[in-house]
Amino acid sequence: MKILHNTDLQPFNTFNINSIAAEIFVIESMDDFENNLKFPLKNIKIWGGGSNILLTQPQSDTILKIETKGKNILQENDNEAIVKVAAGENWHQFVLWSLENKLYGLENLSLIPGTVGACPIQNIGAYGVEVKSVIENVEAIDLETGKTLTFANQDCEFGYRDSIFKSKYKGKYLITSVIFKLSKKPNIKIGYGDVQKILAENGISNPTPSDVSNAIISIRQSKLPDPKEVGNAGSFFKNPIIPIDLFDNLKQKFDNIPSYPIDNESIKIPAGWIIEKCGWKGFRESNFGVHPNQALVLVNYGGASGKSIHHLAQKIQSDCYEKMGIKLEMEVNVW
Ligand code: EPU
Repeated sequence: MKILHNTDLQPFNTFNINSIAAEIFVIESMDDFENNLKFPLKNIKIWGGGSNILLTQPQSDTILKIETKGKNILQENDNEAIVKVAAGENWHQFVLWSLENKLYGLENLSLIPGTVGACPIQNIGAYGVEVKSVIENVEAIDLETGKTLTFANQDCEFGYRDSIFKSKYKGKYLITSVIFKLSKKPNIKIGYGDVQKILAENGISNPTPSDVSNAIISIRQSKLPDPKEVGNAGSFFKNPIIPIDLFDNLKQKFDNIPSYPIDNESIKIPAGWIIEKCGWKGFRESNFGVHPNQALVLVNYGGASGKSIHHLAQKIQSDCYEKMGIKLEMEVNVW
C-alpha cells in the first residue's frame, strides 16, 4: 500500500479543484484491504474516480484511494455470464471490455466517468438503463470490523440515483468488487432521448450493442463537457420528482415542459430544463459557471474554488425554489 502525505487532489477529481489531502492510502490489491488496513477504520473517505465530488476544503480525513484491478468471468452458459470486477476498475473501460467479450447489458451506460466500485452507490443510470438491472451482488468490507460481506441485489435498496450505501449504510462499508450478470443475447434499448435519431442519421436500422454504445458516446460527447478540458462532475443536481398538482400549475405557464412519468401522484422533470427556464444556463462568474449547452452541469473554467461553485449551486437552488416552487437536490457529494 502506497501512502501519500499533503498531496493535492486536483489531478484526481474531474472538477479539477485544488484541495490538499493530509493523507492518502492508495489501495492496489486485495492484500492491501485485508492486511494493511487497521480496523475499525475511522475518519476516512473512500475515493473512486473522483467524478462525483466537489471539494470545498482541505481534507483532514484519510483518503482511501481504491485502485484495485481485475475482471473475471466466474461462470457462464449459452445465455449469460457472471463477471466479478474489482472496485478500482474504470467504469467505461469495463463497458468496452464487456462489448469486446460479447457480453451485453452495459452499452447504454457507456462513457459514464468513475469506477466500478462507485457504480452501485448511486445506481448510475443513463439512456433508459440503470446499473441495478445487471448487478448480481456487491462485495464490501465492514469498516468497523474488517469483515467481508456480500449484498445481494435486492439488499442494496436501489432507487433513482440511490442505494442503501448512500442512505442507511452511508460510511459503513467499503465496496471491494461488484458482480454482474451480463447477457450473451443483445437486448437493444434505444427508446430514450436521441439514441434512435443518431442511429438513423448514421443509416443504422438494426443496431448491435456496439452501435448503441457508439451512438451514446457521441451524444454524451456533444452534450457534456470533457472534464479534461473543462472541470465538471456531470449532472450536479438530481432530476426532481414533483407532485402532479405542481406539474399541472407549471404546465399552464410552460406548455412544453418535458417530463418522465413516475406514478399517479408524481412526475419527474429535468433539472436542466428548470435551471434553464430560471435563466441560469450559460451563467458565468469569473472562472466558474453553468454549462452553456447543458444547464445541469456546473463547470470550473480553471482555478475556481469548490466553495464558490458550491455557493453558486445554493443560489441556483434558492432561485429555482422561488420561481418554480421546486427543491433541487444536489447529486454531487460536497466534501
Ligand atoms: N434540458 C433543457 N435544458 C438544459 C438541459 C436539458 O431544457 O439545459 C431538457 C432537454 O431538452 C430534455 C431534458 O431536459 O428534454 C432531459 O435532458 P437530457 O436528456 O440531457 O438528460 P438529463 O435529464 O439532463 C439525465 C441524467 C444524466 C444522463 C442523461 C441521459 C440525471 C440527474 N441525469 O440527464 O446523467 O446521462 O439523463 O440518460 O438523472 C449524471 O448523472 O452525471 C448524468 C450525466
